Amino acid sequence: MSAGTGFLDGQSALVTGAARGLGAAFARALAAEGATVTLCDVLPAVEDTAAAIRADGGAALALVADVSDRAAVERAVAAAVDAGGGLDLLVNNAGRWTRSPVTDGWEKALSDWDFIMDTNFRGALMLGRACVPHLIARGGGNIVNVSTYYVLPAKSAGTNPPGTDLYAASKWALNGLTQAWSLALAEHGVRVNALCMGATDAPMLRGLYEGEPPAEAVAAWMRPEQIAGQLLDLLREGPEGRTGENVGAWVGEPVELGPRKPPHEAISGARE
Ligand SMILES: NC(=O)c1ccc[n+]([C@@H]2O[C@H](COP(=O)([O-])OP(=O)(O)OC[C@H]3O[C@@H](n4cnc5c(N)ncnc54)[C@H](O)[C@@H]3O)[C@@H](O)[C@H]2O)c1
Repeated sequence: MSAGTGFLDGQSALVTGAARGLGAAFARALAAEGATVTLCDVLPAVEDTAAAIRADGGAALALVADVSDRAAVERAVAAAVDAGGGLDLLVNNAGRWTRSPVTDGWEKALSDWDFIMDTNFRGALMLGRACVPHLIARGGGNIVNVSTYYVLPAKSAGTNPPGTDLYAASKWALNGLTQAWSLALAEHGVRVNALCMGATDAPMLRGLYEGEPPAEAVAAWMRPEQIAGQLLDLLREGPEGRTGENVGAWVGEPVELGPRKPPHEAISGARE
């Protein structure tokens, strides 16, 4: 499908961390449904991702922008508004991971704080501040925060690994933004949800292995396109759709949106 023929025809989306991995899959899926997509990333390869989308007939603009830098955030949002004639969707996807055991020294802990929190939390916060006025001006829209299954206590096994306290904390912090924004923005027709996936085949996860990850692990992982499918299903629900929900995706289970859940279950990730 190309621009002008999908259910997002005429809509404008901003996807952060879109050079590769999940962000690139989100951008491709949105553009394939007709959205004009602005992709930003610290990696110059973001231009290649946008060029590939354009080659497939989609509308995509790339920007090298660091979401932890306020001026870069403002530039990225202005570019998205300009490219799409407004803004309908923010996908807060840019994220970083590093090992940070609590037994590490202070110096490392504080440098890990900057590395993780400036992107995963401060970046998401600033993107929200910059995008919300445009979403309200449009009469409604969507914010989708990209979190992790670590924040879903409905299935505790394997979550919040002990060696990554800051990464886990950054996603619990994002949880706070999702919940507070969903309540505050409901009256403006802006839905705010989070995608909370388990292991998904992307460079960040592959980078945890020295050399190639084992083939059986890769075979079990979810694909970025499956999570992008969840994103599209979330958007297909339209203005009356769910808000304030942590949408889970677990390895070995069907990757689907599932039915709308009552408030507590919507946050904890419980499934029928
Ligand atoms: N892949 C998984 O298994 C998995 C699981 C749970 C959650 N996530 C989350 O999904 C999101 C995407 O991760 P991924 O797996 O595709 O990782 P990835 O490393 O492949 O992609 C992340 C992208 O974000 C970009 N980025 C990092 N810091 C940035 C910054 N300050 N400004 C702009 N861009 C920046 C990177 O350059 C990269 O292109 C992250 O928020 C991650 O925490 C991934």
